[in-house]
Amino acid sequence: MDPLDILISDAQRAFAAAAQPAALENEKARFLGKGGSLALLLKGLAQLEPEQRRSEGARINAAKARVEELLHARREQLAQSELDLRLAAEAVDVSLPGRGRGVAGIHPIMRTWMRIEEIFSSIGFDVANGPEIENDWYNFTALNNPENHPARSMQDTFYVDARDSEGKPLLLRTHTSPMQVRYARRTRPPLRVIAPGRTYRVDSDATHSPMFHQVEGLWIDEYVSFADLKGVYTDFLRRFFESEELQVRFRPSYFPFTEPSAEIDMMFTSGARKGRWLEISGAGQVHPSVVRSFGLDPERYIGFAFGSGLERLTMLRYGVSDLRLFFEGDLRFLEQFNR
Ligand code: DAH
Repeated sequence: MDPLDILISDAQRAFAAAAQPAALENEKARFLGKGGSLALLLKGLAQLEPEQRRSEGARINAAKARVEELLHARREQLAQSELDLRLAAEAVDVSLPGRGRGVAGIHPIMRTWMRIEEIFSSIGFDVANGPEIENDWYNFTALNNPENHPARSMQDTFYVDARDSEGKPLLLRTHTSPMQVRYARRTRPPLRVIAPGRTYRVDSDATHSPMFHQVEGLWIDEYVSFADLKGVYTDFLRRFFESEELQVRFRPSYFPFTEPSAEIDMMFTSGARKGRWLEISGAGQVHPSVVRSFGLDPERYIGFAFGSGLERLTMLRYGVSDLRLFFEGDLRFLEQFNR
């Protein structure tokens, strides 16, 4: 038998015996590789006469082409059987019933946010939004916050490693109060607005989270008094908690941007939560120098502002005792607000 035919049938047998792609590639090297049998035969041509070399060369090349063909065919076979195996293993039974899909719900903090917007809109307040990355002028200076006030320090404030286009330091706003100034500078009085949003401070325990939510309120006109603040805020709380059974008290306090300033405390007068004063908001008569930051004349314009924590309001409304639950994303907790 012709040695080339023997080589071809050897290759065919070897390829057929290779059960894995890797084994097949090893066999390929044996026949078609640099030191493989066909390469050796081609090298041997050098010893032949020119005439013979040509005809023998053509025969060897034909044999080589045949071996390559056999190799490709086997490669395809192996790929196909691998695919068949995978298809069998990963088969999907399209007749199975579906697994059902989770229904999205509204986060309890968002429920409070929406509720507050609804209540204040209904009494004629605008709702404003503003940047969470704020510059230090809006966050501190415009709010009459002295240059060396501790709230500006690295301990409380997340500074951003960048400055704005005017070269002012940037930070994650520590409260929603800068929205008073932003809104006032683009709106003509009377100003009646709330600005709910996210705020940030270096603080973390059962009642503080580095990211939290506040709602700012502002009412500025020619004759807005502390009595209006008491009326508006007390009415807000009654509507928010859907109860007349609560008391509100204004306790003297200090904020640079208000004078006089107060903490607003409330107490339920019935039900399981009754009998304990709880602090829920800062508030006060807007300081004349802040009214000046608004671009308004403090001799003519006066009013009040407040800033309340949405987490605190939400915890009181639903009886949640650990604020961290709001941000852990545990569905067992969150689902309770969406039944
Ligand atoms: N910005 C204050 C804070 O984060 C809260 C506050 C107090 C806001 C008094 C006000 C206000 O508008 O009048 O602690």
